[in-house]
Amino acid sequence: MKKTVEAGLNVPSARGKSRSRIRKLALIGAGKLGEGLLSALLESQMLPLDCVEATVAQAEQARADYLAGRYGIKAHTNNRQAVKGASLVLIALKPYQVEGFLREVRNVLSKDALLVSVAASVTTAMIERELGHAARVVRAMPNTPCLIRQGMTALARGKHATHADAEIAQNIFAAMGRTVVVDEKHMNAITALSGSGPAYVYMIIESLAAAGVKLGLPQGLSTELASQTLLGASALVLHTGEHPAKLKDVVTTPAGCTIDGLLALEEGGLRITLIKAVMQAAARARQLVENDNS
Ligand SMILES: NC(=O)c1ccc[n+]([C@@H]2O[C@H](COP(=O)([O-])OP(=O)(O)OC[C@H]3O[C@@H](n4cnc5c(N)ncnc54)[C@H](OP(=O)(O)O)[C@@H]3O)[C@@H](O)[C@H]2O)c1
Repeated sequence: MKKTVEAGLNVPSARGKSRSRIRKLALIGAGKLGEGLLSALLESQMLPLDCVEATVAQAEQARADYLAGRYGIKAHTNNRQAVKGASLVLIALKPYQVEGFLREVRNVLSKDALLVSVAASVTTAMIERELGHAARVVRAMPNTPCLIRQGMTALARGKHATHADAEIAQNIFAAMGRTVVVDEKHMNAITALSGSGPAYVYMIIESLAAAGVKLGLPQGLSTELASQTLLGASALVLHTGEHPAKLKDVVTTPAGCTIDGLLALEEGGLRITLIKAVMQAAARARQLVENDNS
């Protein structure tokens, strides 16, 4: 669901009684994902340029200048200045950077600001605890296809975030693709499945393309065939709502070629390998915030 609002997204007040427009959106950590978010938001015209302020790391003034020049927004390296007066704070920092940021800004952050964090593994409870007040927090897990508006973003509400807050977050990420609202207990699984998922899919594309090359197809053609096949097959699942097994059966003619290919995949353990990949990534997601400083 994409909403276009002339003078900005509507944000409910802290008491939830009246609705007020976004005074200011602070985007903290405008790196790869943050810039993608910024670009999608501005392109969707959900927000006027003059209510958006973005920050980057202290040593990245040149990047701030680039963002300001490219998008026509205020961009700098001062997080406290950015969150001051912001009614919506989008946190796009690396997980291990979030705690320091919250400590840095908690005494200038407005108590009624809505915080939306994309940091993998950082829980809404951790953000609420660090801020020390009943902050409205929504946790988001997007993926890299968001950068071309084909993303999948799962959103979970913290203890004090309202349905309207989740809706605001959904409107933001809907500018970058599909969205779902889930219970936060599912976020590690989602991080491992749709967050990390593009990497698994690229490996599958790479392998299918290599097979094409082995059979004499040019590399570029092989990659195009493999990529569009994954795109089309995925679109068919979403479009029809059918179980993938049923769609697989449609392709598989008795005694045809596909069944031989499927047998080779079974022999190679494709299913169990993918299941284990997601399980291991989910286990890592659970420990990421304690250990990761990469
Ligand atoms: N990329 C994805 O596919 C994806 C998917 C889902 C969720 N996420 C989450 O999105 C978050 C950002 O990922 P990313 O790939 O966009 O990382 P990224 O490119 O490293 O973006 C983070 C940005 O924040 C900057 N930064 C560091 N410290 C800062 C500070 N104190 N104040 C302001 N800015 C600061 C970084 O600058 P420096 O580079 O100079 O440190 C960098 O530009 C991560 O938490 C990740 O878990 C990413």
